[in-house]
Amino acid sequence: MADFNDPIGADAAWWRNAVVYQVYVRSFADSDGDGIGDLPGITSRLPYLRDLGVDALWITPFYTSPQRDHGYDVADYTDVDPLFGTLKDADTLIETAHELDLRVIVDLVPNHTSDDHEWFKAALAAAPGSPERARYMFREGSGPDGSLPPNNWESVFGGPAWTRVPDGQWYLHLFDSTQPDLDWRNPEVGDMFEDVLRFWLDKGVDGFRVDVAHGLYKEESLRDQVVAEGGRASSGQVNSDSSMVSRELKDEPMWDQPEVHDVYRRWNAVLDSVGPDRMAVAEAWTQTPESMAAFVRPDELDQAFNFAWLLADWSADSFRKVVVDTLAAVAPVGASPTWVLSNHDVVRHPTRYGGGEQGLARARAATLAMLALPGSSYLYQGEELGLEQVDVHPEHREDPSWFRTGEVGRDGCRVPIPWGGDSAPYGFGPGDAQPWIPQPDEFKGLSVEAQAGVEGSTLEFYRAALAARRAHALPQGDEVTVLTGTDDVLELHRGGLRVLLNCGTTDLPLPAGTVVASSAPVADVLPPDTCVWLG
Ligand code: BGC
Repeated sequence: MADFNDPIGADAAWWRNAVVYQVYVRSFADSDGDGIGDLPGITSRLPYLRDLGVDALWITPFYTSPQRDHGYDVADYTDVDPLFGTLKDADTLIETAHELDLRVIVDLVPNHTSDDHEWFKAALAAAPGSPERARYMFREGSGPDGSLPPNNWESVFGGPAWTRVPDGQWYLHLFDSTQPDLDWRNPEVGDMFEDVLRFWLDKGVDGFRVDVAHGLYKEESLRDQVVAEGGRASSGQVNSDSSMVSRELKDEPMWDQPEVHDVYRRWNAVLDSVGPDRMAVAEAWTQTPESMAAFVRPDELDQAFNFAWLLADWSADSFRKVVVDTLAAVAPVGASPTWVLSNHDVVRHPTRYGGGEQGLARARAATLAMLALPGSSYLYQGEELGLEQVDVHPEHREDPSWFRTGEVGRDGCRVPIPWGGDSAPYGFGPGDAQPWIPQPDEFKGLSVEAQAGVEGSTLEFYRAALAARRAHALPQGDEVTVLTGTDDVLELHRGGLRVLLNCGTTDLPLPAGTVVASSAPVADVLPPDTCVWLG
């Protein structure tokens, strides 16, 4: 293992201040020309990530999978899907990343397996009441002849959360019908995942991103969900509403049950048995900052994605509230906060902020404000290029939610990365091999090659911002003061660093100080949609 020389110091808790770059494996870099990104493709681009200035990469699932939900439907947790390479390619990736002082976080999907997993195939072949079925959530139906689902829960991807099998039983799937939920009350399930953790730790990974970490356990009665008028029967995830910001709590018997925390206590011990430098970050769409903080108590996971930051609307008030609430929520448990603006499940943030020039200006400004905050920032591939959400033609859409509901889905934030060249695939793969989602013509001007070394480009902005974070934000310690009383401006002070984000519509006089980073050029005034750091 490399001798990491990171700014965090001897406690080995490198993640507490890290910038983590999310790699969506099928859309990052294609080494073999099949139009789909793969592990050797990632390895070949690691120097790019090091030069960008991130500390770690999180790679979305690359395990054996029929790809019904692009890898979040795992058929074998300890092997690599041939689409993405081999176990040897995974070893090479991890080794090369460590040589470059980059940590590697892999995705763990414990709420459900693929219906192609040996366990589920055995469950289908076995009789109701068998030990094979007891690893999943099989139940009798309701109604006089059992022909109705056992309860009213809906899948996050739309439609009922239950599917009936030929012998009349139903199984639960909070996502697609090809993603049956495991029964975590069955001890075999916990044992299996402990083995999976150990397998990847032995391979040298530095951490895990825990998919649907607030899932796993369901309220034991499997009672109906109480649904507000006009509300959905199930929520808590993709396209989630803003309950984390608004605090209108919903009845969620399928999410965030107290028993789930026992799982993370067990995993904490597993990670610690390998070393203090191994971590896990929860993807937990919980309803409040406090419930998020429960996942990062000292004997549980290390971090949780702070989706409140991503869900905040473009206003100084919203951002201020999220910063204050987040810091207050994690302080009592001693965890480091996290910040995230984009990932593979949500509309890219320049588009969320209105798109076009203004959307990009706001995206850069929100990013710079985020990078000033204590804790970790999670970046999503392509945001450093200013990519927007793409309107993917229906014939190329692959998101299971599109097939289940006819809603547009998440493909638009998953379009393969443009690396260079004048025409598609813009260096994504060798030669003319076209990627699995066609890239729009605008990608030509947004490629890494088109932006590298170009003053004012979004790529150069990210590089400068990450360097400024190391030089001017991290040395200031973790104390932050969030100022109030400036309606359109988020102003925070971290030690001697003063950060201003103008969410209003008028120029503001720039206070005295040396500009050490800015999301757009500033002179005497701070224009709207701009963030500046004053040293
Ligand atoms: C992942 C999604 C996935 C879902 C089901 C989410 O947390 O981020 O991409 O569809 O879990 O595994």
